[in-house]
Amino acid sequence: MATEEQYDKETVDSKLMIDHDYDGIKELDNPPPAWLMWIFYASIIWSVFYVFYYHVFYDDSNIPDDLKVYGAQVSEYNLEVDDAIAAMPVSTFDEKSIELLSDEASMAEGQTLYATKTCDVCHGASNIGPNLSDEFWLHGNSIEEIFSVIKYGKTDKGMTAFKTQMTDVQIQQLTSYILVKMKGAVSTNTKGPEGKGTDMGNAEGAEDESADTSNAKGPEGEKHE
Ligand code: HEC
Repeated sequence: MATEEQYDKETVDSKLMIDHDYDGIKELDNPPPAWLMWIFYASIIWSVFYVFYYHVFYDDSNIPDDLKVYGAQVSEYNLEVDDAIAAMPVSTFDEKSIELLSDEASMAEGQTLYATKTCDVCHGASNIGPNLSDEFWLHGNSIEEIFSVIKYGKTDKGMTAFKTQMTDVQIQQLTSYILVKMKGAVSTNTKGPEGKGTDMGNAEGAEDESADTSNAKGPEGEKHE
């Protein structure tokens, strides 16, 4: 078997031997198989088309359809985002005419803000600030007036300005919560009426209907009809 292989190799070699000789060194011409060479040539031809297609004549019309669809979706989405930004309540917020909210989500948000923004610390059982659940108001009880007190504070009287701690919309929700839910509610604040009453026939409200709050302060401020 060894001799057979030896014999074969010599035969093959003699067929492949190139007809030149350099100081006794000979060379075999032993090409790769034809199928591999064809792939090689084909890839060279392919590369010519590739270069012209993608690097010379490439333009929008050559973009596959799904990419165009994708691009259209992106720009459509960007337009929607622009619309949404333009429609955002913050940008259209008018402090001079604020809408009173009463939907459940706003009420829940207002309640959370009331509890988390330290309102209750001063307006609750500590009696530092006036009772917000009675009908007497030092600075008025229109939504704009209350909004303004919360936003800009009455810092000389001990009421913090909350403009850096809440957005306008949050203050709107909080104000609405105070007007819709706290009015007439039982409060831990035991102050009596301060300011002007809102719903009562007479102004000085020591015997005001909100007597069930825990705020014992007497009327402060003017009564608002
Ligand atoms: C540091 C204590 C303090 C905190 C905290 C505080 N307030 Fe006040 N607030 C006061 C005082 C004191 C007044 C009375 C100001 C005055 O006499 O003019 C007041 C007044 C008010 C008024 C006007 C009441 C009226 O009779 O006109 C509103 C409304 C009000 N606060 C809401 C809030 C809300 C909402 C929060 C929470 C975001 C809050 N306050 C947090 C102390 C506080």
